[in-house]
Amino acid sequence: GRPKPLAGRKIVVTSGPTHEPIDPVRYIANRSSGKQGHAIAAAIAALGADVHLVSGPVNVADPAGVGTVHVETARQMRDAVMDLLPADAAIFVAAVADWRTADSAGEKIKKVPGGGPPALQMVENPDILATVGHHERRPALVIGFAAETENLLANAQAKLDRKGADLIVANDVSHGSGVGPGGVMGGDRNRVRIVSRSGVEEWPEMTKQDVAEKLAELVAERLSGNGAS
Ligand code: C5P
Repeated sequence: GRPKPLAGRKIVVTSGPTHEPIDPVRYIANRSSGKQGHAIAAAIAALGADVHLVSGPVNVADPAGVGTVHVETARQMRDAVMDLLPADAAIFVAAVADWRTADSAGEKIKKVPGGGPPALQMVENPDILATVGHHERRPALVIGFAAETENLLANAQAKLDRKGADLIVANDVSHGSGVGPGGVMGGDRNRVRIVSRSGVEEWPEMTKQDVAEKLAELVAERLSGNGAS
């Protein structure tokens, strides 16, 4: 069979969006299909790792051979990830909602004629990647994603320190490359740059499947100590 360079390694992956309830029928969410995160979990499992996927609500199937925990909100995702530590590596692909409403209403908020829209009080969600990246039980390898529409590299580089990550996988989601047919979000292709403290590696545009396989190989190199710092 194929070589299993990640045999014996425990790896946590987050994927998909989070949904933050406003009331029982409405929510705030980021755009994310889960395609890239689920493909990464599967590709890492194919290299022999014990993969734990923490997924927000998505329409893609649980990858075969991967233990999948289903969550809805950022706080649930954070709790599920923390429960899975210690691990050898953690890869944060989920598009986590940055904010949630301060209290979600127990009943559907009524539209009152002439009453105007409700004033939603927002609070910040926990940053799961930053929490893990700076945690005493931090995995040896922590990888984040950055979907940027401008200043891609400067933003990704700043994110390394702020989030305590070893690598940031940056993808440009501005104009043509973003939402919609042929776009990154929901589409099957992706063009990424791998940003580390030692520089930037540009990968050509390829399928999300190929990005996942290349990233899985990079994880295996890094964990075996072959990668550059
Ligand atoms: O700050 P920004 O949202 O651009 O950071 C993106 C990276 O941080 C992704 O890896 C994402 O999964 C992670 N993240 C997180 N928790 C949040 C926000 C982002 O884990 N609340």
